[in-house]
Amino acid sequence: MPPQVVRQPEALQKRLMEKRLEGKTIALVPTMGALHAGHCSLMAEGRKRCDVLVVSIFVNPTQFGPSEDLSAYPRTFDADLESCDREGVDVIFFPEPGSMYPEGFSTWVEVEGLTEGLCGATRPGHFRGVTTVVAKLFLLAQPHVAIFGWKDAQQLLTIRRMTRDLGFPVEIVGVDTFRESDGLAMSSRNRYLSPEERAEAPALYRALKEAERMHRESGENRSDALRDIIKRRIESESSARIDYIEIVAMDTLRPTDTVVEGNTLIALAAFMSQARLIDNIRL
Ligand code: PAF
Repeated sequence: MPPQVVRQPEALQKRLMEKRLEGKTIALVPTMGALHAGHCSLMAEGRKRCDVLVVSIFVNPTQFGPSEDLSAYPRTFDADLESCDREGVDVIFFPEPGSMYPEGFSTWVEVEGLTEGLCGATRPGHFRGVTTVVAKLFLLAQPHVAIFGWKDAQQLLTIRRMTRDLGFPVEIVGVDTFRESDGLAMSSRNRYLSPEERAEAPALYRALKEAERMHRESGENRSDALRDIIKRRIESESSARIDYIEIVAMDTLRPTDTVVEGNTLIALAAFMSQARLIDNIRL
């Protein structure tokens, strides 16, 4: 059966409440559409875990800054519908902005601390928009499980913290970053890259992998040294303009002087003309 498309928040809530009362388990994959193979891997995880698979497609205006790409963000509903159908999605939630943010909307969910560094430093207000919309989606869909990608590690860890702090009865599942064959992390924003930039973009992941090798094979533990390796590699192999390269503790997302195995995230963001690309590895 093709996915059912639901546009009204109340209709989604009612339909999924009925499923819960029938004893069905619900998995939610929140997305902003422009679905690619990375999203499909999130859907496949949800399909495996639950009876009912729900995908939300909503380009959430509150997580875009005034100079960001809200109006240009790709909207590809027909192709998204086909991807959802292929992945066995039961329900697509595709609301209008006005139904998610009614006139006079003034209530926000904000996670402190974890959202201040990394992407939070260059995108003020971004994570407040993400946590607010995800909290709303949790209340509407009432999922047992929600699936997010490790590519957006700061987002995943922030949503985990929100879920714990506010006591949402939802298991947050992280799925490893899905990559092109040359290592570039899949992202809806990759389509902004020119052919030359696309050819250079895998340098970001190569740089992260080189740092990982230096740590694992040569025992390099110093964050400064690892950051230098990444910076040099990106600068020598691409025209990317580095926004940040940070080595942080996974539980606080604060910079750490040395790598602590099992609790370290190396995260970076870089601009390539139109596109801002992010990537990370966990040590
Ligand atoms: O990762 C995304 O696509 C968005 O930030 C999310 C989680 C769907 C919230 O709008």
